[in-house]
Amino acid sequence: MKIQFTLNNKKIEADIKIGQTLLEYLRENGIYSVKYGCDNGECGACTVLVNGKAQNSCLMLMHTVNNCKIETVESFSDHKTLHPLQKSFLDEGAVQCGYCTPGMILSAEALIREKTNPDEAEIKDALAGNLCRCTGYVKPIKAVQK
Ligand code: FES
Ligand code: FES
Repeated sequence: MKIQFTLNNKKIEADIKIGQTLLEYLRENGIYSVKYGCDNGECGACTVLVNGKAQNSCLMLMHTVNNCKIETVESFSDHKTLHPLQKSFLDEGAVQCGYCTPGMILSAEALIREKTNPDEAEIKDALAGNLCRCTGYVKPIKAVQK
């Protein structure tokens, strides 16, 4: 089955496999910022933006993203400058092993696009689906506030 979508501002026509998830497709096509964690919608490591909303790509079948706009952190950097959220996460020490970081940044980006100055409760709510084993969550929240 062929579908079309935009991935990081590039138009893609893909011949997809039945039952293939967006997570599987992205990693098979070199988008390694999107992490394989629980494969069950629990950890948020596989978060991507679909039409601007943070979604768990492990739960999305490829046929459901036909004509959608998919974004990952690969679209955030030109390898010379960092996206402000990426810089803030580094500056605040909010990155340790980094496994959760792309997903957290995308969840934060979705929030900030909706509301430019979210309060702490809104940030906590936006990051609630992104589990982190390292940071204790305080620094990522500070990074988003910054
Ligand atoms: S791998 Fe998708 S939520 Fe954990
Ligand atoms: S920095 Fe290691 S899981 Fe979050």
